[in-house]
Amino acid sequence: MVVLSDFSKKWGGKVANRIPEDKVDQVRSAVNIADFIGQYVQLKKAGKNLFGLCPFHEERTPSFSVNEQKQIFHCFSCGRGGNVFSFIMDLENLSFPEAVAKVADFGHIELPASYTAQAQVSAPKDQQQADLLKLYADSAKMYQHILVNTELGEPALDYLHQRGLDDQTIATFGIGYAPKNQLLLDFFKEHDIDYQLLRQSGLFIENQEGKLRDRFVDRVLFPIKDASGRVIAFSGRILTKSPNEPKYLNSPETKLFNKRDVLFNFDLARGAIRQRKAVVLFEGFMDVIAAYRAGIQNGVASMGTSLTNEQIYMLERVTDQLTICYDSDVPGQKATDRALKLLGDNSRLNLSVIQMPDGMDPDEYLRNAGQEKFVRVFADGKQTPTAFEMTYLRHDLNLQNTQDQLTYLGAVLQQLTKLSSSVEQDLYLNQLVQEFGLDKDDLKQQLRSLIGQQSVQQSSRQSPPPAPAPMTPPPIAVTGETSNSGPLSRVEKAERLLLYRLLHDHDVWLRVMAVAGFHFVHDPYQQILVYAEAYFKTHNQFDLANFTDFMADTSLQPVLTSLEFMDIASESSKEEVADLVNVIMNQQPLVEQINGKKAELTAAKQIGNHDLVQQLTLALIELYRKQQQVQQADNF
Ligand code: UTP
Ligand code: MN
Repeated sequence: MVVLSDFSKKWGGKVANRIPEDKVDQVRSAVNIADFIGQYVQLKKAGKNLFGLCPFHEERTPSFSVNEQKQIFHCFSCGRGGNVFSFIMDLENLSFPEAVAKVADFGHIELPASYTAQAQVSAPKDQQQADLLKLYADSAKMYQHILVNTELGEPALDYLHQRGLDDQTIATFGIGYAPKNQLLLDFFKEHDIDYQLLRQSGLFIENQEGKLRDRFVDRVLFPIKDASGRVIAFSGRILTKSPNEPKYLNSPETKLFNKRDVLFNFDLARGAIRQRKAVVLFEGFMDVIAAYRAGIQNGVASMGTSLTNEQIYMLERVTDQLTICYDSDVPGQKATDRALKLLGDNSRLNLSVIQMPDGMDPDEYLRNAGQEKFVRVFADGKQTPTAFEMTYLRHDLNLQNTQDQLTYLGAVLQQLTKLSSSVEQDLYLNQLVQEFGLDKDDLKQQLRSLIGQQSVQQSSRQSPPPAPAPMTPPPIAVTGETSNSGPLSRVEKAERLLLYRLLHDHDVWLRVMAVAGFHFVHDPYQQILVYAEAYFKTHNQFDLANFTDFMADTSLQPVLTSLEFMDIASESSKEEVADLVNVIMNQQPLVEQINGKKAELTAAKQIGNHDLVQQLTLALIELYRKQQQVQQADNF
């Protein structure tokens, strides 16, 4: 088939070179870590550092910190840390060259093609995941090629043009078309793609005999991307109406795709969300795209379901203003009401609502009324949640009827009890006074007694005021065998301070290296020291960000970074260093004995000498007990 062979030419990867250190340095120093991380985390200045909600675990109070001067980050809660490359490697599970390529891209620095090619073929952390990503990337290209360049795609392209999407928009969103006859399967078969991989991809449907066929047929395909813009699923809109088929068909959940975690367009919108300090939440993909065309580029949509805590959390990390812009028909209003409650209970976002006139969805309104009017609704039409509720609560009431009037007033007053601002309460009370010709003092009285009732109910139930839904506790990061929880022992404090001095003050380095048999008690510090020895052989000066990359063992990076966030005097004295060395060296004999006995124990187990195992175990217990005593005394 012509279509396939055309496309096949683009297939295939290249092998390439290691990125040289000076290139890595150039990329790192051209990009400010705060700007880069700012794409993912809303950072606010506090003292000399910037703080935000850690993107690696869920939290409600910021413990994630960025130091611009040192160009590093550190989370005081989960212990993760490092430089700009470690950040994105951790966050998106990238290899080092991939991370460099990504940061270079952000800083508009051209990397020679040979390096970026390496980013694609470098060993991924998870081969299956990488294979799936490649499969999706290739499918997306393929489907787009069909839409844009082939006869098969013409009806779909006409349809999209009719709906007001120009070619630029189609390209921006990577929209494609899956034709009537199956196609993807043949394409991948031609390229000998592993059958199991195809099965797991969700791109195909398997029949009883295990035969595959394309899942998406005669549908316009919207690629669903993760936060970094990688295609992880499709949503396909039916082209020819059919009563038995859903309008939109989504990829099933796969290793890559979990509906709960995904917001349509989050990757493209993130920059605009930060710029405008606000996000707009739409109901449909077409609405997001319509708004984008009209210059409102901070829009996202959940995947046809109500918002999940995961999605709320993604948004909270980048902004604190959210506008709901769902369809303005009755189902859309119901959904808005639900979303307001959900967000009110589970987030700290400041909420507002925008509704298109005449029961239209945003995409329809843009097409009917034109861009100018559309944009004006966004500029002028923002409602507070209360204003929205006051309209919404009417939807199945007849306010000519006294009974319904009372129901309505009761519901509105109930709504007003949630407001913390008395000015705002007053505003809405005035509206009720006007509309229903009521006495304002009576209404105020009613409202006060409702508020009173609520607080009585709350205290009698002994429950705290409504709090955000409980979130899972942050996972503890693996930072090597340092004491991860609880206060540090005196020895470890000494190790951390001394290591910091060693790295930053070359006089200290020379002095301590001259002490015979010096080494750290805890492995990670010792490992960093070993890296530092190698580093100083090829580098005259210590450069934190550069050294971070130099240490190939990424589990050590958070340990290194955490040293930089210690609150210590900037200058060290000879006495201080001598003291530190002393504290550490006095611990060593015990540690060495323990390590020796451990090795013996392993050997004894291997040869099956049970008596010896027992004897060594007892000896070890005794040593551990001693060590604890020493540490307790040290802590004292
Ligand atoms: P809508 O039906 O409001 O979408 O569904 P829309 O954007 O107006 O679609 P057009 O304009 O007719 O093309 C809103 C969202 O609900 C999900 C999709 O995510 C869609 O964008 N949905 C809808 C489904 O998942 N399946 C469906 O069958 C329909
Ligand atoms: Mn629509």
